[in-house]
Amino acid sequence: MVIENHRLFAFDTKELLSMLINPNEIKIGCSVFDAEHVALVNMINAIHKLLKQGNREKAKEIFQKGLVEYTEKHLAHEEKVMEKFGYPDLEMHKKSHEMFKRVIAEGIKNLDDPKAFASEAAMAMGWIFGHVQKTDKKYVDFFKEKGCWEEACEMLEQPVELEIEEELRQILGPEYVEVPVKK
Ligand SMILES: [Fe+2]
Ligand SMILES: [Fe+2]
Repeated sequence: MVIENHRLFAFDTKELLSMLINPNEIKIGCSVFDAEHVALVNMINAIHKLLKQGNREKAKEIFQKGLVEYTEKHLAHEEKVMEKFGYPDLEMHKKSHEMFKRVIAEGIKNLDDPKAFASEAAMAMGWIFGHVQKTDKKYVDFFKEKGCWEEACEMLEQPVELEIEEELRQILGPEYVEVPVKK
């Protein structure tokens, strides 16, 4: 499933809200980025679960406290690495990131409208899934071809810190996805 760019607004909200994203499908083989993607998945899954339980206030809190800030930092991390290693599709990739930031910004505006908020959360899920699988994988291929994949992965020593990790663990219980640990 690929949901991105112009297709972003053309999917079934109910369908997306009814599934938990499988993090194994978005692993790209770089511990820092995998950890950050998994953190995003945990946040989206937590929002999804809270919405299903009808706990919209808590879902809003996770959205504001976690998703917005973490997304910003993760995208900046990726852009920094792509820039450093001369990734040729950087501008296009940045545009895709900008779109996600807009989706998130819209989400904040709609936090008090349950229907609109559910739709925003579903869009966020769809974007992460589609973007990592399709767009992020392109830089993986490029770095591998260029022979600098390992160096690129090593450039960032630690993933963005997930301050609400404990909270997410409690919300998700056994559904919490452990972040890959850097060796
Ligand atoms: Fe990413
Ligand atoms: Fe990206």
